[in-house]
Amino acid sequence: MSKIILTGDRPTGRLHVGHYVGSLRRRVELQNSGEFDKIFIMIADAQALTDNADNPEKIRQNVIEVALDYLSVGLDPTKSNLFIQSQISELTELTFFYMNLVTVSRLQRNPTVKAEIQMRNFEASIPVGFFTYPISQASDITAFKATTVPVGEDQLPMLEQTKEIVRKFNSVYGEVLVEPEILLPDNEACLRLPGTDGKAKMSKSLGNCIYLSDTEEDVRAKVMSMYTDPDHIKITDPGKIEGNTVFTYLDAFSKPEHFAEFLPEYNNLDELKDHYKRGGLGDVKVKKFLNNVLRDELAPIRARRAEFEKDIPEVYNILKKGSDVAREAAAETLAEVKRAMKINYFEDKALIEEQSKKYSR
Ligand code: TRP
Repeated sequence: MSKIILTGDRPTGRLHVGHYVGSLRRRVELQNSGEFDKIFIMIADAQALTDNADNPEKIRQNVIEVALDYLSVGLDPTKSNLFIQSQISELTELTFFYMNLVTVSRLQRNPTVKAEIQMRNFEASIPVGFFTYPISQASDITAFKATTVPVGEDQLPMLEQTKEIVRKFNSVYGEVLVEPEILLPDNEACLRLPGTDGKAKMSKSLGNCIYLSDTEEDVRAKVMSMYTDPDHIKITDPGKIEGNTVFTYLDAFSKPEHFAEFLPEYNNLDELKDHYKRGGLGDVKVKKFLNNVLRDELAPIRARRAEFEKDIPEVYNILKKGSDVAREAAAETLAEVKRAMKINYFEDKALIEEQSKKYSR
């Protein structure tokens, strides 16, 4: 069986370093591993509209931002199909058919949807489209017969829902759909990178994100004001590592080479942590190191972005070509689905014959 990746992001804002360590970095590795037959990376604008129906301009603006972020981290359109969800109408058709296989109570139990409903104060008036987006996400995944879905842990309930739909569909209509596997980030710190203020989630409204498109100076300012251990007041005080954002970011970003280059008095992160815990290591020194590490990681991304920004029509062209390829793949699956569901009337000669026989006595 071929190995196929599908994943994507809602275009509701520029992508930040949490997206990078949680997912983008891995995608590029997977892309370059050569292990996958096809890779589909989707800008989920239709899903973004499920809770931004009154703000289409925001989604429209961010489609290009996300595309630039994708290209800048090294997703290569000759290896990965970058496409826009809304341009593949086959996905909405699949969603309509899958809706018959999912109960309202099952959707109500989805922990991600539950949390999002709370976050958006939707309790009293949930848009139906938003409520059913896990079903649409199952369409995104199954339309491409994805075997591998690299996403963050918050997407686990979506994958569970998808698997249930696949099993149900295949048991009712015959083996057509493929059960996908989730591929979680392998580094603990990357599962959920906190905001620069130490809050559990990076969010634009909290102003605690480091964006991939931030300038070097932006990043430096954000790192220098990062949340650390509030009880680590004097340099000689022993410091805490747990919940210390600077160290969480180092867990996610630093490599042994960074120590050799920027902080040779330590061999690795463990030694640095030990010193911090003992006391005698100041926050500013650790922050400066983190800033160097981030600059090292983000500089090539920034440079690539600047190149693509010079030719925006070409970026749209990449998305259009990717969407054409994606549409073709989704159309194949949709045809199989319709055949299995016995709604392929005009291509089924046997049906037409059978019906004529019934009436030709
Ligand atoms: N729900 C994902 C997010 O919030 C975006 C998404 C839509 C997605 N469809 C998908 C991710 C299918 C993986 C697979 O970012």
